[in-house]
Amino acid sequence: MSAVRPLPYSRHAIDEDDIAAVAEVLRGDWLTTGPKVRDFEAALAQRCGADFAVSCINGTAALHLACLALGIGPDHTVIVPTMTFAATANAARLVGAEILFADCDPDSGLMQLPQFEAALAQLRREGRRAAAVFPVDLAGQCADLETIAACARHEGLAVVEDSCHALGTGYQRHDGSWTAVGGCADSDITVFSFHPVKNIAAGEGGAALTRLPDLARRLAMFRNHGVNRDADYFTDKEAGFESAQVNPWYYEMTALGLNYRLSDINCALALNQLGKLEHFVASRRRLAERYDARLAEFAPLLQPIARSPHCRPAWHLYSVLIDFDASPLSRGQLVRALEARGIRTQVHYIPVHGHPYYRDRYGAISLPGAEAYYRRTLSLPLFVGMDEDDVDYVVETLGALLGIGADATRKRVS
Ligand SMILES: Cc1ncc(COP(=O)(O)O)c(C=O)c1O
Repeated sequence: MSAVRPLPYSRHAIDEDDIAAVAEVLRGDWLTTGPKVRDFEAALAQRCGADFAVSCINGTAALHLACLALGIGPDHTVIVPTMTFAATANAARLVGAEILFADCDPDSGLMQLPQFEAALAQLRREGRRAAAVFPVDLAGQCADLETIAACARHEGLAVVEDSCHALGTGYQRHDGSWTAVGGCADSDITVFSFHPVKNIAAGEGGAALTRLPDLARRLAMFRNHGVNRDADYFTDKEAGFESAQVNPWYYEMTALGLNYRLSDINCALALNQLGKLEHFVASRRRLAERYDARLAEFAPLLQPIARSPHCRPAWHLYSVLIDFDASPLSRGQLVRALEARGIRTQVHYIPVHGHPYYRDRYGAISLPGAEAYYRRTLSLPLFVGMDEDDVDYVVETLGALLGIGADATRKRVS
């Protein structure tokens, strides 16, 4: 059994080498944007196969930067799957865009092609067009991104992939090759979060990755107050140069930006954690496989979420679907009973379109796939440092509470 009690649905894994990496920065000259920011961005871009990684203070900021860099604004509508954290939609609202919520597959929670096409068809019926789509890699799984991106490009939409759950995930493209999420093979921009429950921790942290130099430049500019220091882009050459030499102090604020810079302290932690990503992913996969094997006998009352074809997920969440209509306990009763036994669970997610802010803005919307997913979903503990005995404890406790599985049978017999 791991030492962590109660078992959280997810948590960070910090070792002495992480602490040493942060301490080294604290003893050095740079606390804000210094060498660790550059090293982390280079390592992240390389790990994912993107050309550029722009770090920032969290995943929400990365989504906001993506909207700003793409020029999304009040005249635009963007398509966002409703089965996500509110930040995906909120980022587009922060630049004034309207959201068209897309439904999801009821068994995986992913917006696949049919749900994306249904959203496009709805806009067409209403005489509107979308500027961008934000596919979300829920729990660590991605949809068929290549097909979604091809359809998006055909319709003239930008693709911003919300991969906050999916650092370390890979997927197979139609030519049989494998690519990493974050490599931007099928997105203009891909966004990650390094919140401690995610696949690596930076404290708080995020990043936006791209293959496109102009987008990378704009992401970095909006991250830093809209300031440009690249002499090639100076608008006032007279102020910027003296005798053909760049004035050393000179910079220009060319757009309304923010201070979304991540610090060297955070990047030292994130960089050290990135070095352990393969181990983290493998460890989460092993635990997920143990859950899969042990929970097989719980079907059809309880089943893992459906697996997305051609995806090799880095599991951020271990989410299951429970038929609460057939269960002796409601979800509330089950969550409380598990908590009383030292097991913390979470629901990912309340469909975003159902939150009061969006209900007030867009009225009552029916997205039956997402609602069916939401009614049944529960995320069980999954974190690095958890062991197989912990998985067994969760499974046996669930079995006893739901009246299924060998453990419940044993209890009933004895
Ligand atoms: C799908 C998704 N998008 C965006 C975010 C926002 O990331 P952050 O918490 O780093 O701002 C999260 C974080 O929970 C998320 O799960």
